[in-house]
Amino acid sequence: MGKRISGVLKKTYIDKRAVVAKSARIGEGTKVWAFAQVGDNAKIGKNCVIGNGAYIDRNVIVGNNVKIHNKALLYNGLIVEDNCFIGPGACFANDKRPCFNKTRNLKGVSWRLKKGSSVGANATILPDVTIGENSIVGAGSVVTKDIPSNVTACGNPARILRRENAKKSAKPQKLPKL
Ligand SMILES: CC(C)(COP(=O)(O)OP(=O)(O)OC[C@H]1O[C@@H](n2cnc3c(N)ncnc32)[C@H](O)[C@@H]1OP(=O)(O)O)[C@@H](O)C(=O)NCCC(=O)NCCS
Repeated sequence: MGKRISGVLKKTYIDKRAVVAKSARIGEGTKVWAFAQVGDNAKIGKNCVIGNGAYIDRNVIVGNNVKIHNKALLYNGLIVEDNCFIGPGACFANDKRPCFNKTRNLKGVSWRLKKGSSVGANATILPDVTIGENSIVGAGSVVTKDIPSNVTACGNPARILRRENAKKSAKPQKLPKL
């Protein structure tokens, strides 16, 4: 058992079937489940969960208390701030105009999930998009443009469904005891 600090267990777990690059950094209390892959120089914060088969590309930066569900695909250029949620099968698409016979130039592609934002299951986030603080992207959405803070957005292309009460949603998240 790990050491209990403010109700949260301080123990890191990496399943032996996960593939984690030597240069990747995994924070205290983070769990990396089977078949997940974490690439070179990726930085994962504290108390995160990296689900079964999730793919975290090289250089991806993930804050603290982030939940990344099974088979989510996170590519180079993504920054995920604290307290975010990424649903199963969500994909950050990194090539806007893919073509089999062109060398892909993926330099400068970037995304940012701001604090407390959530991306639903199987959502696709196109390159160079920011999801604002505490916003939710619905399941199966295709996000083509920045999403502002404190909104629920969904659909293909994703559109704002409603604006949330910023004060209410900015409440600090109480972490469950592990
Ligand atoms: C987007 C979401 C947060 C909206 O939930 P909500 O605020 O309760 O919205 P409602 O269910 O009342 O739906 C409102 C409208 O949006 C539509 N809608 C809801 N979710 C949608 C989605 N993901 N994509 C497209 N349209 C959606 C509904 O059909 C409804 O349309 P209508 O007004 O024409 O009938 C929710 O549906 C969702 O997709 N959550 C993510 C779930 C998920 O992936 N969880 C991860 C599990 S591990």
